[in-house]
Amino acid sequence: MNSDNGRSVSVWMATQDTPAGPRLAEDAACDVCVVGAGIAGLTTAYLLSRQGRKVIVLDDGPTAGGETARTTAHLVFYNDDGMSTIERLHGTDGLRLATTSHMTAVDTIEEIARRESIACDFHRVNGYLFITPGGQGMDFLKQELDASHRVGRREAHFVERAPLDGFNTGPCLCYPNQGQFHPLKYLSGLAEAIRRNGGAIHNQTHAASVTGGSPAKVQTSQGRVITAGAVVVATNTPVNDRVVMHTKQHPYRTYVLGFKVLKGSVARNLYWDTLDPYHYVRLQELDEQHEVLIVGGEDHKTGQANDPARRYDALERWTRPRFPQAGELLFHWSGQVMEPVDHLAYIGRNPMDEPNVFIATGDSGMGMTHGTIAGLLLTDLIVGRPNEWEALYSPGRSPLKGATTYVKENVNVAAKYGQWLTPGEVASESEIAPDTGAILRRGASKVACYRDSQGQLHQFTAVCPHLQCIVSWNGLERSWDCPCHGSRFDALGKVVNGPANTNLEPMG
Ligand code: FES
Repeated sequence: MNSDNGRSVSVWMATQDTPAGPRLAEDAACDVCVVGAGIAGLTTAYLLSRQGRKVIVLDDGPTAGGETARTTAHLVFYNDDGMSTIERLHGTDGLRLATTSHMTAVDTIEEIARRESIACDFHRVNGYLFITPGGQGMDFLKQELDASHRVGRREAHFVERAPLDGFNTGPCLCYPNQGQFHPLKYLSGLAEAIRRNGGAIHNQTHAASVTGGSPAKVQTSQGRVITAGAVVVATNTPVNDRVVMHTKQHPYRTYVLGFKVLKGSVARNLYWDTLDPYHYVRLQELDEQHEVLIVGGEDHKTGQANDPARRYDALERWTRPRFPQAGELLFHWSGQVMEPVDHLAYIGRNPMDEPNVFIATGDSGMGMTHGTIAGLLLTDLIVGRPNEWEALYSPGRSPLKGATTYVKENVNVAAKYGQWLTPGEVASESEIAPDTGAILRRGASKVACYRDSQGQLHQFTAVCPHLQCIVSWNGLERSWDCPCHGSRFDALGKVVNGPANTNLEPMG
């Protein structure tokens, strides 16, 4: 299948097509309109359709063609920002609720796959957290264990080493009964189930505006209008919010390699180390004899580095000594992580005081479980059922629990406006090789120039339409990435990631 978020191809995209729905051709009315056909949007639509609600899902690309196609799909209640960190920021009760919600999400995915007969390679696996030199050490592991036990996760325990041949991790923490699956097989099945329940999914349909009220409305860029009792904006990062949410979460790119291994040569589990950014490892079936060893890490802020070869090289150098079973390199891809300043997703009523508009964002590197939590929580909010997770995930919550990160990240954003004053990356268009891009200075303006593989030059203003930062070239994904809040545009200027909701302006 295609992803509209970049050129690299994940193991998921290479092994599963998702069903395509027709473009929305006329005005429509429904109970709930969901914008965004990733895991958060489709889970919400599915659960509401089971409650008898008429749902319409819109996506401007393919189903699950955004960041859901670029995850590594670890299904865990262990929080990758640290159980002790979540407890420090949200209290013991907050950690208990967060842990319970992620466990419920894994159970929900398993239950939906069983109920709808979705063959999505779901497996229960253990998670192992081990120390890597340069990362957090034994004190951290003990803190993590204590925090886990305080919220009742007594099954977490120390083991002498992770069950890996050829690599002695040393003492590490084991979190039993986590999960993994193939996200695109799962979402393909979910999309079919939504249709069976009477819902509709419209691809290649861009939601140009969302207006709260009774009814709420979504207008598409073709001028069609959907009137709905409620609208859910599940577009990875909300395209209907200009400022507030984007000061509370920050975009990162993460990198992934997939190596061919003989089936069974690496024990099927989840593995994470204690570096920052950390490495994350799992396996995925490939064929009768082989699996893919999936290794991720090397994160950086979106739009603030363009050195994918160095990052892939570092990942491979980390992997080969630890996993000598790793054979041919089959896949490499990258994805985007939205990191909330206090490390929990924002799910609930849009804080912009728009009646009947809901958002789900801030995956925090746990997008599959946070997306499923979004489906459960938003369904309850929309049908009027109380949900004990509501306050924990409220998009309106204060960012002050994560005040240090909030200040640091927003100072970083402010500094990026200095790029208005810097020279261009190249002096003239002639320096731009085919199928690459660069920023040029032309008088007071900065121009994003892409030369396609036929040699034709395409020029756009380099000013991001969200809040006017200067975009930068992403050579791996052939995209223009904004270093401020993570908007992304394909090589020809079409928006592929919010918060921007319009394209880069073409220049002559
Ligand atoms: Fe906010 Fe570009 S994403 S200015």
